[in-house]
Amino acid sequence: MIGRLNHVAIAVPDLAAAAATYRDTLGAKVSAPQDEPDHGVTVVFVELDNTKIELLHPLGADSTIRNFLDRNPAGGIHHVCYEVADIYAARDKLKEQGMRVLGSGEPKIGAHKKPVLFLHPKDFLGTLVELEQV
Ligand code: CO
Repeated sequence: MIGRLNHVAIAVPDLAAAAATYRDTLGAKVSAPQDEPDHGVTVVFVELDNTKIELLHPLGADSTIRNFLDRNPAGGIHHVCYEVADIYAARDKLKEQGMRVLGSGEPKIGAHKKPVLFLHPKDFLGTLVELEQV
């Protein structure tokens, strides 16, 4: 069902400092910050040869990233994103197996302008999983 790792998302308390760590210390290619109001985040994309890292910072008062940072003040891995060919087929297959899809269960358009869904971390080894149709 799942294909490539699309990205690993890291929640960070200081976006400029986090971008500088990846750009200056690790020597990676780092984008300008991009606001994603529909998802309550500001994102910096770190482009690697084989995948991406997304540095997430809360945008707006009710951002889910804010709750995560309250529990993890230094930041931490927030989710992993796997690619699927057909997000509706993947969702239906997972629901048949008793897996929980977060929110309404309908795909939303994600930061890459493609449909995404999130799966319950308690069903996936304590890790929030995002599926993105590519
Ligand atoms: Co993501």
